[in-house]
Amino acid sequence: MSALASFLHHLAASCADDGFVRLSLSSPTRHDDAVQRIQARLVDLDGGLHLSFTLKEERRDTTQNVPLPDAVAWVERKLGREFRGALLATTTADWQLQLPDGKDARLIRHKPATTETPPRSHDGKKPTFLGASALPWLQGLGIVDQQGRPRKNLADKRVQIDRYVEILAHLARDCGFDAKSEAPLRVVDVGCGKGHLTFAAWHLCKHVLHRTPHVVGIEVRDELVANASELAAQLAPGELTFVHGDIGTVPLGAVDALVALHACNTATDHAIRRGIEAGARLIVVAPCCHQEVRPQLGRPAPLDAVLRHGLFAERMAEWATDGLRTLVLEHMGYRTKAIEFVGGEHTGKNLMLAAVRGSEPTPAQRATTRAAIDGFRAFFGIGTHALDELLAAPGPNAAGA
Ligand SMILES: C[S@@+](CC[C@H](N)C(=O)[O-])C[C@H]1O[C@@H](n2cnc3c(N)ncnc32)[C@H](O)[C@@H]1O
Repeated sequence: MSALASFLHHLAASCADDGFVRLSLSSPTRHDDAVQRIQARLVDLDGGLHLSFTLKEERRDTTQNVPLPDAVAWVERKLGREFRGALLATTTADWQLQLPDGKDARLIRHKPATTETPPRSHDGKKPTFLGASALPWLQGLGIVDQQGRPRKNLADKRVQIDRYVEILAHLARDCGFDAKSEAPLRVVDVGCGKGHLTFAAWHLCKHVLHRTPHVVGIEVRDELVANASELAAQLAPGELTFVHGDIGTVPLGAVDALVALHACNTATDHAIRRGIEAGARLIVVAPCCHQEVRPQLGRPAPLDAVLRHGLFAERMAEWATDGLRTLVLEHMGYRTKAIEFVGGEHTGKNLMLAAVRGSEPTPAQRATTRAAIDGFRAFFGIGTHALDELLAAPGPNAAGA
């Protein structure tokens, strides 16, 4: 393969696997008023990936956005004729192309200057965390079309998935999951539904954290398990599987991270309990359908004056349920965060609780968190809180259970 063909091959491959960092064309063949240099970024425009070229003249810059399939041919037309040098930076290597007049072309490989990909956002558009390497599974799940644009009515889902991967990436780094390791990264997604976020977790492990994924989605509905399994077998054999099972009882080995997004009512508590028992360093839940606390919620003074309004009582019950979940997690040695998952315009169920396991609490710390839980429950008259109760009894993973 010629040096030029090899350079173009690396350009196309880096765009396809999301390793592209930047491209510049230099050493112009003309030295008049024409373009002296071209720089390119990979950007997501209208749901599709483009190379955005900045053409630098002496007194002005102009921009041309070329969709991906045509962008490589666009670069090929410039090289040799208008420019004799090019540098392609990717996350795995930097490629320097030299096309001297009358001499042999050379392609030199350098260590990558950076292994981080820049954001693919463009001019105020919402940044998107998922690059071209996510297209096969986003298309396979029917979320985007062949051009990478969100399908009708699925734009919110696309935003949700993107934001989920972004948040999870930060949390995963907090947990050290991005450290180089031969060990697979074990993630379980319970109540995974169609597997949208399970595929996203697999993508994160493989393409963002560069770890070997061992991701399992657990779901009670057989037809969802069958559909997701078929796609996983095509795109991520041996790395992503879907299993029929109940959150509360399905056998789980040791896991690094457990996620449960929109598992109804106390299914979220079962999920948290399973994560704690499985030794998860990271637990991420987005609770929904809070039904347990509402009928129990008292009206302690001075809140009684407002809790007579049903809507306030409902919101307070949700807040109390999730607040107690964070206290119980802290009692078990986790640091917790409450995060707004996506803006309220995308989904009403937008609270996410993230818990990162810290060191084993001392007896004094346990006593303090226990007192906080008991005081909170007593204040609101909460006789039963599933998570607190579940953790007091041996679970399905416990020895002999
Ligand atoms: C609202 S959907 C959320 C799906 C997915 N986590 C998401 O956020 O896109 C909840 C899913 O949990 C499943 N589910 C509910 N209770 C479950 C249980 N006890 N065990 C396993 N799956 C359960 C439901 O069948 C449903 O597919």
